[in-house]
Amino acid sequence: MAEEHIQEQTKKRRTFAIISHPDAGKTTLTEKFLLYSGQVAEAGTVKSRKSTRAARSDWMAMEQDRGISIASTVLQFSYRDHVINLLDTPGHRDFSEDTYRVLAAVDAAVMVLDAAKGIEAQTLKLFEVCKARNMPILTFINKWDRPSLDPLALMDQIEQSIGVQTTPITWPVGPGGDFRGVIDRRTHEFVRFSRTSHGATIAPEEIVSSEDAKAQEGEMWTQAQEEVALFDGIDATHTDEGFLSGRTSPLFVGSALTNFGVRHLLDAVIDLAPNPGPRETQDGGTRDVHEPFSAFIFKVQANMDPSHRDRVAFMRINSGYFERGMQVTHERLNKTFSTKFATSMFGADRGTAEDGYPGDVLGLVNASDLRIGDTLYVGEKVAFPPIPRFEPELFWNARPADISKTKQFRKGLSQLDEEGVVQVLRDLDAPTATPVLGAVGQMQFEVFAHRLEHEFGAVVEMTPTAWAVARKTDADTAEKIRDLRGTRVLGSLDGTLFALFDSTGRLARTIDEYPDWTLERVVEAVG
Ligand code: G4P
Repeated sequence: MAEEHIQEQTKKRRTFAIISHPDAGKTTLTEKFLLYSGQVAEAGTVKSRKSTRAARSDWMAMEQDRGISIASTVLQFSYRDHVINLLDTPGHRDFSEDTYRVLAAVDAAVMVLDAAKGIEAQTLKLFEVCKARNMPILTFINKWDRPSLDPLALMDQIEQSIGVQTTPITWPVGPGGDFRGVIDRRTHEFVRFSRTSHGATIAPEEIVSSEDAKAQEGEMWTQAQEEVALFDGIDATHTDEGFLSGRTSPLFVGSALTNFGVRHLLDAVIDLAPNPGPRETQDGGTRDVHEPFSAFIFKVQANMDPSHRDRVAFMRINSGYFERGMQVTHERLNKTFSTKFATSMFGADRGTAEDGYPGDVLGLVNASDLRIGDTLYVGEKVAFPPIPRFEPELFWNARPADISKTKQFRKGLSQLDEEGVVQVLRDLDAPTATPVLGAVGQMQFEVFAHRLEHEFGAVVEMTPTAWAVARKTDADTAEKIRDLRGTRVLGSLDGTLFALFDSTGRLARTIDEYPDWTLERVVEAVG
């Protein structure tokens, strides 16, 4: 494939994820993106998709019960002659490690906030994860059709909590609950929105001149104008440099329910968000998009659909042209790998993927050798940096309730470890000893137990352990920690060593006493 063609296709790609609290409107916004891109004629499909999906899959029923999304899906659609790859993330703090992995595969993120809530303490971690990657973030303040917090206070709160300065591109005319439209700061025009029945179709927009807006909207227009004038004073103006380095975030205000502001946001994904660029490699170099094919695995999931009962590894293409059936090299195993079973995903639905370009995300079916973080390539050997595992914050023991199910239990344990549902931590000196299960949030254990029972037929009994806190460590420190009371070093599947402590006090004392030991937090280390 000609280099120019690959470059041209790459420029048309936008690969991003939506990050939000549960209920902030991620599903609604996704659906409206599909509406605006012409993918669905009327909104309402994604919601029903949600329920079909849940009906088809046992453990997704859990998502529906709780109204949260656990399984990330990938949507690919075209808009304005561009190809958009939209990756879903689980909207719950307990799954922030999944979010982190998805972020490894995107070039930008859209942060959706509920206008009445802003950034909530319990999901702060999700946004911190985004910030830790220095990822360009577009901010969408949603639900402006309802009473909201003061927009300036929201900007302030975002800056205080995650250290990102928002730079409004659109600004609301009318308070939350009385949403007339937005000022587009780039043109200084008033864009007036009108509602459509149930927000099922595109919201009509009318461009109104400043004079007419003043005459028609009076005080609301004047107030919005005054607020916009403030931004110049506080340096809240978009620059590509600030946005691309993750320091500033262009801000949009809207209502996904009524479609107000959705077009502005989707246009910004094309106009502001970066197309796929050179990717850093493990040896500190880069792989440019026009070089031969390379990709890395950021997610593995089995049994997404019980009627298939198979295992899908999701790859993000980093360079070159991919054609289904191509022979590639599996970097970790240093062996040839066939990509005959490549699929494209649209939510939970699959189709055969014939080809792909940098930025595209494809599923490889039943590629049992593939693990999270693996690199595939053609031509010059390349390895992309591993995706670090978070230090677990909860530590449990698990065993099969029925000893005759030990085989199923072990199989499930290893599969769910590979998927990163939980971390199975083992004593590297005693591999047969009972492993400790680590997780960032309690719901990971619930998904683990649910899936073991429903997909592998092994009911598990889970009990908490005495471990309280873990830090990433290295072989040197691990050796020294051996002699300390109330600690233990365990290794995860990818070889990361974690030092476990029976209390945060002991960890603090250890750090005090041995400041040269390696005891790190993973996300902070990445950031
Ligand atoms: P999530 O994926 O982030 O969890 O959120 P989701 O889109 O499912 O939205 C959560 C709730 O918020 C839904 O209401 C949805 O209709 C509502 N919502 C989303 N965007 C807006 C908005 O711009 N304005 C208003 N007023 N509401 C919005 P629900 O009652 O839980 O579900 P449903 O019965 O409406 O489907």
